[in-house]
Amino acid sequence: MKSVGWGKIILFGEHAVVYGYPALAAALDRGVEIAAIPTPAGGSLRLDIPAWDIAVTASRRDDHHRVGRALAAIADHLGVGFPAVSLVGDAQIPPGSGLGSSAALAVAVARALLVHPGRKPGEDPRTDTEAVTDAASASETILHGRASGVDVALAIAGGIGVFRRSTGLRPIATPPLRVLIGPSGEPRSTAEMVERVAQATGGQAGDARLAELGHLTDLGTTALLAGELPSVGIALNRAHTVLTDLGVSTPRLDALCEAARAAGAHGAKLTGAGGGGALIAIAPRDREQAVLAAWRAAGVTTGFVATVGGGAAA
Ligand code: MEV
Repeated sequence: MKSVGWGKIILFGEHAVVYGYPALAAALDRGVEIAAIPTPAGGSLRLDIPAWDIAVTASRRDDHHRVGRALAAIADHLGVGFPAVSLVGDAQIPPGSGLGSSAALAVAVARALLVHPGRKPGEDPRTDTEAVTDAASASETILHGRASGVDVALAIAGGIGVFRRSTGLRPIATPPLRVLIGPSGEPRSTAEMVERVAQATGGQAGDARLAELGHLTDLGTTALLAGELPSVGIALNRAHTVLTDLGVSTPRLDALCEAARAAGAHGAKLTGAGGGGALIAIAPRDREQAVLAAWRAAGVTTGFVATVGGGAAA
């Protein structure tokens, strides 16, 4: 049996969500799948994700590989010890690209550990979702520092919804939305980008740019619910400008957004922490291939179209 954690895109509200504003986020139909394989000969808890060149053992030591420490934190927060199990993963999203790879991994690992060795009934008052949320959040803190929880919530629940730190994920029912996703290939660190925004805003939630990003979540969500894609696009473009002003875009992301708009997209923006990673665009159906071709010409060979939303609210 395989356990899954979904990748995600943030349509609106990244960074502002850390300061309490709403974000509109949607799970992808792909992420990380983990199979737990017992090692009868014993040995330590291991994690292997060949697609991401990850091969670690769980360890609480400070000098250990960060993913090994994150693995240990997940096991500790679930209270399952370090069982003699190899967790072997299949990843369908690129790592470190703003598509929620680390949260998808943490959720898939936590779910796999809940199934094997399994929790003892009655020992833990938390629901499985609460336990997975705690464990994956501990992993995110090790890998990213200050995190809002939006990536973990989407990796668990899937679907599309508005996330706030105070209320968690509220699923919404939207028309199906086709989103073009372009992993830029530029590496980046979420922790560094969150820190950059803290520097730019003085850590003040009242900063006008953060407030505008939160407002754009409301505008974009309303437009999406009404099926007004050109208005969604205008909000995406504005959000990218505000994120650029906060210092989390790059010349390459700016150029890829421009290329998408020139190829006929309604709008485009970076998604996730920025500083590299992925961008998203929304385009009329007959312009989608032109946008992907423009990205390919700029070296983005792994662009794809994902359909998000479209289901009933959970
Ligand atoms: C990362 O996907 C989104 C950020 O807002 C950080 C977070 O919310 O944890 C940049």
